Amino acid sequence: MQRKYPQRSKKMAESRSKTGGVTVNGAPVLKPETKIDPEKDVVALQGKQLFYSSFVGLMFHKPAGCVTATQDRCQKTVMDYIDHPRKKDVFPVGRLDLDTEGLLFLINDGDLSHRMLSPRHHVPKTYEAQIAGEVTKEDVQAFEEGVDIGEKKKTLPAQLEILEVNAGETPTSQIRLTICEGKFHQVKRMFEAVGVTVVYLKRLSMGSLKLDETLATGDSRALTQEELECLKES
Ligand code: URA
Repeated sequence: MQRKYPQRSKKMAESRSKTGGVTVNGAPVLKPETKIDPEKDVVALQGKQLFYSSFVGLMFHKPAGCVTATQDRCQKTVMDYIDHPRKKDVFPVGRLDLDTEGLLFLINDGDLSHRMLSPRHHVPKTYEAQIAGEVTKEDVQAFEEGVDIGEKKKTLPAQLEILEVNAGETPTSQIRLTICEGKFHQVKRMFEAVGVTVVYLKRLSMGSLKLDETLATGDSRALTQEELECLKES
């Protein structure tokens, strides 16, 4: 099986040729603007063959104040943060609210995006949140059974974990929640349904892929080969 190097694009091979070591069909490339046919030409860097992958997948640590869209007239969008030679090809998989932080994927494969977001596939998404109000064991039970957020049906069973409760006159709670749906403002509406308010929300994981915590807020990086495979499986 051929190994793929998704981040090693044609452009990258072209730019490396400035410093030498790139060959096309065995011949050294001397001009960075040399055109190649990725289907036919054999490109190598210092003797190692490079494989062009048409798939682009990025992990992005979305900051608050960034719209999950590719363009917007008023707000910064995810595109303002992405620095990748093929950024024009990618789009966000699903949405996070303007004030939500955390894991967002950007890919260039519409079918894969559709599969990841399809309600039929129930891809689990885990969030961490700060809540104004006291989250109780009864809420844990209610989320397990499904709550009424004003849709035709109750929400699907969701796993709520209470991490910390600061009791007092104005109690606050810290929680972790895993849901298998992606309705509009779903997490915020679920907490509203039990009488408390989300004041901070961050997505930690989607399917089996976790946010790389070494990725600073606002940064992105190419998905590794292993992550790509997990993404396709989820
Ligand atoms: N649920 C919400 O309420 N907001 C998000 O951004 C994601 C899930």
